[in-house]
Amino acid sequence: MNAQQVLAQFQATGVQTCFHGRHIEPQIYKDLDGTNWRLKDYEARGGYQALKKILSEGITPDQVIATVKESALRGRGGAGFPTGLKWSFMPRQFPGQKYLVCNSDEGEPGTCKDRDILQFNPHIVIEGMAIAAYAMGISVGYNYIHGEIFDTYDRFEEALEEARAAGYLGDKLLGSSFNFQLHAFHGFGAYICGEETALLESLEGKKGQPRFKPPFPASFGLYGKPTTINNTETFAAVPWIIRNGGQAYLECGKPNNGGTKIYSVSGDVELPGNYEVPMGTPFSKLLELAGGVRKGRQLKAVIPGGSSAPVLPAAIMMQCTMDYDSIAKAGSMLGSGAVIVMDDSRCMVESLKRLSYFYMHESCGQCTPCREGTGWLWRLVDKVHRGVGKSSDMDLLNSIADNIQGRTICALGDAAAMPVRAMIKHFRHEFEAMIQQPSAQQAAAQA
Ligand SMILES: Cc1cc2nc3c(=O)[nH]c(=O)nc-3n(C[C@H](O)[C@H](O)[C@H](O)COP(=O)(O)O)c2cc1C
Ligand code: SF4
Repeated sequence: MNAQQVLAQFQATGVQTCFHGRHIEPQIYKDLDGTNWRLKDYEARGGYQALKKILSEGITPDQVIATVKESALRGRGGAGFPTGLKWSFMPRQFPGQKYLVCNSDEGEPGTCKDRDILQFNPHIVIEGMAIAAYAMGISVGYNYIHGEIFDTYDRFEEALEEARAAGYLGDKLLGSSFNFQLHAFHGFGAYICGEETALLESLEGKKGQPRFKPPFPASFGLYGKPTTINNTETFAAVPWIIRNGGQAYLECGKPNNGGTKIYSVSGDVELPGNYEVPMGTPFSKLLELAGGVRKGRQLKAVIPGGSSAPVLPAAIMMQCTMDYDSIAKAGSMLGSGAVIVMDDSRCMVESLKRLSYFYMHESCGQCTPCREGTGWLWRLVDKVHRGVGKSSDMDLLNSIADNIQGRTICALGDAAAMPVRAMIKHFRHEFEAMIQQPSAQQAAAQA
């Protein structure tokens, strides 16, 4: 079976993508059926009304930023930074070129929401970016799209052509004095290129390696010019906010966590896929939407925000609501919203070995703690998994993680260290059992 056939089979079931209808009050995925992505369809859903409203009613950039601040929209790329606040950092009066960049790199294991937005609702991102550009006085933007999703890239290019032809992009938008040129850029398929400064390097045609911060992109970004970078889902949230008001968006979620969020639910559930629900929805409800844990199995643990988020045991997770504050209070991160569900058949040593291998492989190698430490972590977990670990390896693992976290140029180092500490904190007994009775445990792990 070739790649196209596999993809067709995957999409044919209808449940793994966004157009399965199992959402609660969706704003971004609403009414999508997999075919209605074109400009005329988007306009029929109220698309580009927000941009028209801003330009025709003379709403000022400051008012747009104030509305986004009021909405409590937080960046959907991982860190959850308040979007309105980020926009206010852009030095609008800067005399030279300023840039707007959309981060569609989406390389975090478990995350697959942005590609569905671009594939099935590309104009919502274009409109969101045009509004953001207007608010920050920016005339040029780029969408950096993950290197391995060729169909999605082509789809976005087609949508750009439609938007340009209709006057939603280009010079003097809809007869106003506002100019905005938007281009797509094909990334290079490296996880690290999703880190915002590595992305900028890559966009400039260089090797995708993170820059030391400060300076931050708002003052020294693309080609050294002021730049604002947001995630695809962040931009996609903006048209709804402008159409319905910041307060309505805030009320849809919970204080400090406005609006809806798209969760990519994967792992041991009956219906893996993307689910859009209001911020603050109980985890148990999200699990129910995804068909629950696989038949005959019990929930063991959940990684709630992509592979770099610390794992949480079932009992803690079942008490959480899905929003930045609740998950942080429980000791993890909402991250990109990739919810990886693990049932009682999962061996945590093996899972950590897999995660550690990923971070070792993806480290860009610039800083010693990350370059060397990620390899040490993987080799130690592999040793325990092979049944030749020692009790002292547990403390050594924690110590290596300590020596990586907070000591690197970018957050990939933290992302490698945090899962290790959380696995040992919550599932130390599994590691110890494998060290003390290697053969019995290994046999169980392979059963
Ligand atoms: C290793 C690493 C990978 C990242 N990958 C992504 C990514 O694929 N997509 C994304 O939007 N943000 C990613 N981020 C976060 C970005 O650096 C940045 O914070 C984000 O794009 C800002 O957008 P937001 O404020 O809308 O969330 C990554 C960060 C790190 C440290
Ligand atoms: S933390 Fe790792 S990925 Fe980030 S700059 Fe340092 S070596 Fe590269």
